[in-house]
Parts: sequence; structure tokens; C-alpha cells
Amino acid sequence: MAQKSKILIIGGTGNMGKFMVEASVKAGHPTFALVRETALSDPVKAKLVQNFQSLGVTLLYGDLENHEKLVKMLKLVDIVMSAISRSEIPEQFKLIAAIKEAGNIKRFFPSEFGSNVDAGHPIEPAKSGYARKAKIRRAIEAEGIPYTYVSCNCTFGFFLPTLAQPGAVAPPKDNILIYGNGQPKAIFNKEADIASYTIKAVDDPRTLNKTLYLRPPKNIYSFNELVALWEKKIGKTLEKIYVTEDQIIKMIQDANMTDKIMLLVNYSIFMKGEQTNFEIDPSSGVEASELYPDVNYATVDEYLHQLACLSN
Ligand SMILES: NC(=O)c1ccc[n+]([C@@H]2O[C@H](COP(=O)([O-])OP(=O)(O)OC[C@H]3O[C@@H](n4cnc5c(N)ncnc54)[C@H](OP(=O)(O)O)[C@@H]3O)[C@@H](O)[C@H]2O)c1
Repeated sequence: MAQKSKILIIGGTGNMGKFMVEASVKAGHPTFALVRETALSDPVKAKLVQNFQSLGVTLLYGDLENHEKLVKMLKLVDIVMSAISRSEIPEQFKLIAAIKEAGNIKRFFPSEFGSNVDAGHPIEPAKSGYARKAKIRRAIEAEGIPYTYVSCNCTFGFFLPTLAQPGAVAPPKDNILIYGNGQPKAIFNKEADIASYTIKAVDDPRTLNKTLYLRPPKNIYSFNELVALWEKKIGKTLEKIYVTEDQIIKMIQDANMTDKIMLLVNYSIFMKGEQTNFEIDPSSGVEASELYPDVNYATVDEYLHQLACLSN
């Protein structure tokens, strides 16, 4: 049997990255994690790193600043997977330069894990965020670095606990904001499943130089359908407050940073339907649940069922 590729994960101490590390180990890949010393001063991250060690992950202490050291680290592995924070996306130019110099990397997965940044409908400041990820794509392609872009759409953790309600800390029980007419479809994926699909793509020639779209059929819902499912789970009809395009733009302008991010993604995903208003072009994209039907993915229905039980 062919040897599984050695995977280096950058951003393994982050929300998304930790699932990548765990899925890589679970799939039997020799797994490496770049760890910044500063992360260890956070007790939660220190514990996570300790757990990586107990799973057999090779910890490489460093950062993206020291080019020579980074090149040496890259020489140890075959695949580089980045899950660095949204705000740090341009730092990946340093990674691209090191990958280019190392010359041995078989595939680079940049930090994406959202909507397709080449096809979205964001407004500022999200528009600049999409543009930063798109610039990384263009740099990878210009350097001829083999890649896979993972477009996982909405994560369960970001959207479902509050049903995408800005400012909320619990799921809605009385009323709910509906963005536009609530009809465009969105796609939801559990973080651990996103990681499973991503790791499966690593040694798969079908995903080489392609975007891997995660569109598991049981997790595609319009906002109206999501609300109807939630109402069924809690046995109650919610008051619907419909938000127009002008209203959401005003809300975005007035919101604090946390709520702004939620409103911006709500605008482009639930109002404009950016995750489902295009067909996957087979020359540049593939769909994960079709390629890997063996992944027994978690469903929105199961998640909302548990959420309703917990919030009773
Ligand atoms: N689709 C969705 O619903 C959704 C939701 C959330 C995130 N995302 C996407 O997922 C990706 C990861 O986001 P996240 O929320 O998981 O990020 P996060 O929790 O903020 O984690 C960031 C990780 O990146 C590392 N990092 C940050 N700056 C770095 C730098 N300059 N050099 C090296 N490492 C650095 C951090 O290391 P330290 O621990 O050392 O700080 C940490 O491990 C982003 O592209 C984001 O847009 C998508």
C-alpha cells in the first residue's frame, strides 16, 4: 500500500485547525503541527498541544517569520495545510515563498473554509476579506504550486447555535430575524466532517488543482426551511421579523465587530444565496459527498434536535 503523505498543519491551535490535526492523525497520516511558542501561554491551547503530542503529532515550534527555518520544516513533509485566522490571511504569502523554495510540497491547502471567494457577493468589509483569500489563490497559481481549495460553506459552530442571530448567545425562542425572503439555500457542515473530507482529498488526484465544494445533500437549507425545522424541534412558532436589504446594510454599518461579521455573512449567504447560486464547474471543482460517500456526515436535523433538548 502506498505510504500516506506527511501533512503539516499551520494554525492547528485554532478552531478549524484542531479538527484538521485530529482528522489527519485518525486517517493515519504522519502529522506535523507548526506551533507558535506564544500559544502555550494560553492554557486551553497548551492543553490542546499536549493532546496533539499524546496523539503522536510531531510538534514543530516556530512561525512564518523565519524563512530559512520554515523551509527546513517544509522539507520534512509532503502536504501543507493552513487554517490560520481570517485576519492573518496575507501572512500566507510567506508560506508560499517558503513552499516555492522548498520545492518538495505535493499540495498546498490555503486557509479558506468558507464560501467560494471567487464567486461570492460580499459587501465591505467582507469584500476585502474575500479579496485577500482570492489573492492568495492567484499567488499559488502563479507560482505553479499544486493546490486544493476547500469551500466548506457554513460551519455548524458559527451559524447553528444562534441560528445566525447577531448578538445572540442562545438559540431564538420567541422571535427571529429572516434575511430577505428567506428562500436562497445555504449549506452547513460540522467542523469534524469538514476536516474528514479535507484530509481525504490530500492524496486524491481528483482534487488536485481543484476546489473541493462540500455540499452534502441533507445539509442544504433555505433560511425559511431552517427556521421551520427549529420550530418543529422546539414545538413553537416564532415571530418572524423580515429584514430588507437596506435594513441589513444599515445594521452592518451600526454593528460592533462581532455582530458585523455575522450580519455580513448573513447578507451574502442567506440574502444573496452565494453558496448555491452556481453550478460546480467540473473543470475546476468537485463535490465532496459525491467523491467520499463513505463519510457519515452529521446533519443539521440531528444538531438542532440536540440543541433543542439542551436549551429546554
Ligand atoms: N465557514 C465558516 O463558517 C467559518 C467559520 C470560522 C472560520 N472559518 C475560516 O477558517 C479559517 C480558520 O479560522 P479559525 O476561526 O479556525 O481561526 P482561529 O481560531 O483564529 O485560529 C487561528 C490559528 O492560526 C494561527 N495563526 C494566527 N496567526 C498566525 C500567524 N501569523 N502565523 C502562524 N499561525 C498563525 C493561530 O495560532 P496561535 O494559536 O499561535 O495564535 C491559530 O492556530 C479562516 O480562513 C476562516 O475564515 C470559516
